[in-house]
Amino acid sequence: VPVSRIRNFSIIAHIDHGKSTLADRLLQTTGTVSAREMKEQFLDNMELERERGITIKLQAARMKYTAQDGQDYVLNLIDTPGHVDFSYEVSRSLAACEGALLVVDASQGVEAQTLANVYLALENNLEIIPVLNKIDLPGAEPDRVKSEIEEIIGLDCSGAVLASAKEGIGITDILESIVYLVPPPQDTVEKPLRALIFDSYYDPYRGVIVYFRVMDGTLKRGDRIRLMASGKEYEIDELGVLSPTQVQVEELHAGEVGYLAAAIKAVEDARVGDTITLAGKQSSIEPLPGYTEAKPMVFCGLFPTDADQFEDLREALEKLRLNDAALQYEPETSSAMGFGFRCGFLGLLHMEIVQERLEREYDLDLITTAPSVIYRVTKIDGEVIYIDNPSLLPDPQYREMIEEPYVQVDMITPEEFVGPLMELSQSRRGVFKDMKYLTQGRTTLSYEIPLAEVVTDFFDQMKSRSRGYASMEYHLIGYRENPLVKLDILINGDRVDPLATIVHRDKAYYVGKALVEKLKELIPRHQFKIPIQAAIGSRIVASEHIPALRKDVLAKCYGGDISRKKKLLQKQAKGKKRLKAIGTVDVPQEAFMAVLKL
Ligand code: GTP
Repeated sequence: VPVSRIRNFSIIAHIDHGKSTLADRLLQTTGTVSAREMKEQFLDNMELERERGITIKLQAARMKYTAQDGQDYVLNLIDTPGHVDFSYEVSRSLAACEGALLVVDASQGVEAQTLANVYLALENNLEIIPVLNKIDLPGAEPDRVKSEIEEIIGLDCSGAVLASAKEGIGITDILESIVYLVPPPQDTVEKPLRALIFDSYYDPYRGVIVYFRVMDGTLKRGDRIRLMASGKEYEIDELGVLSPTQVQVEELHAGEVGYLAAAIKAVEDARVGDTITLAGKQSSIEPLPGYTEAKPMVFCGLFPTDADQFEDLREALEKLRLNDAALQYEPETSSAMGFGFRCGFLGLLHMEIVQERLEREYDLDLITTAPSVIYRVTKIDGEVIYIDNPSLLPDPQYREMIEEPYVQVDMITPEEFVGPLMELSQSRRGVFKDMKYLTQGRTTLSYEIPLAEVVTDFFDQMKSRSRGYASMEYHLIGYRENPLVKLDILINGDRVDPLATIVHRDKAYYVGKALVEKLKELIPRHQFKIPIQAAIGSRIVASEHIPALRKDVLAKCYGGDISRKKKLLQKQAKGKKRLKAIGTVDVPQEAFMAVLKL
């Protein structure tokens, strides 16, 4: 089809507002996927994604649609991940589009994630089509939600589509709106090739599969290409479109969306946001704007419970990294924990996904230490260093100042929870920024909060204090200086470096006291008494002890054949509890996360 009949669009929505259901409907209605072959939620095909009900990897689908004007159109749907950790990937998939469907649950209204994604779409100059979904629900209030969208986003909603992805209502209206409202791509087929990578994944047989949008020029099978950011060159083995399964084609032109394989070894060589050009004499070509390297924001230590699994862990991380350019890791040795890795992630969700995959797909038993952010430390001699592991913070006499990353947290909540959410934000060292009343008792609330206070259980607390009704988004705003100190934990007299945390000076005593109390609960009794202390430098700020098991207790519970029963108990314990021996003390996994649960 001519470029004038191509439409590239994505769907932006808050979690659970119906993005996947609508995508499925569009694929069905256009006959791209028949009802029979339609797996539920076709686009979310990773196992983990499905279990968590969220979209992690973005993908694309090409649909043919005969519009009411009798013409055939090609509609390329580019899926976007729905989570704040992946907002860079969202922005790159939006950059590959000319329009976006803004799906809002008509029984709920605009949520924090809706807003964050709309701003990304506006930055990319997309035509935005509001879709009010779930109008089949008795609680749907499309008029209220329309005025909410108009007020908050300033988007005209007179042409908004009322839809139910579930019942199949309004689907044709949506397709027609895409055809009439989303502009076709510019016809720049005469220009030298530039294509934008918006996703990639590693395939063990064909190498990395790259998803891209051709912005200018033409790409043919067999072409030798150059990836501008990595500087590497490859020959295209396979070129195709996603309908939504991969179908090979000979060439793709400006405006089209497709995939290629070129024996690329790891996704880091074909990163999201990079520009594909033809290799050779194209030195005057400007890369497409917006490329940035993934920067980890959250770090933790990963240690095998069994030291023999260290090499297995290394191999597993290497494999995961082939498919995940944002995952960083380097070996870490801890006197308490032995050999492991310090890993960097885009955010908490990214961290959880990696941990789960390591355990599930690679069958590793891991101890995970509490997440830390990255601190900027200026030393006395003026040198600036970045610290992602609290135990490595230089002692006070060697440092001039410590700065920590701050994020702006934007929450949207029913009015009655404003108080509890302000209290929560203030207790996390938040600085009040802004509050606005929206429609009918809904409020936006913005705070600037240290990221370290957000990566603990902020999200869970926000949900529980608003009975699930509030939503939030956050973005990095920069580093700020604070009087921070390192709090060490000693178990049985040994400093346990993975338990060290960096806290605000004013909170140090409180955190120290709460932490030793929590550890006392979490660490099981041993045959001997175990002191647990919190210290700042050489000063002990809190201390507790775990009493020894008493002989008669043992006798009672091991009555009968002791060795046999013991074996049985150990077996049960192994299945239930993940323990790491630190000196002579067995410390369970939960203890390493204790700081998150204070
Ligand atoms: P994430 O992938 O988690 O971001 O969610 P999503 O936005 O893709 O939402 P999804 O399509 O998974 O839908 C969330 C829930 O809403 C599911 O239980 C759907 O069945 C339901 N749902 C989606 N559309 C409609 C609708 O039009 N009406 C009703 N009643 N339910 C709907």
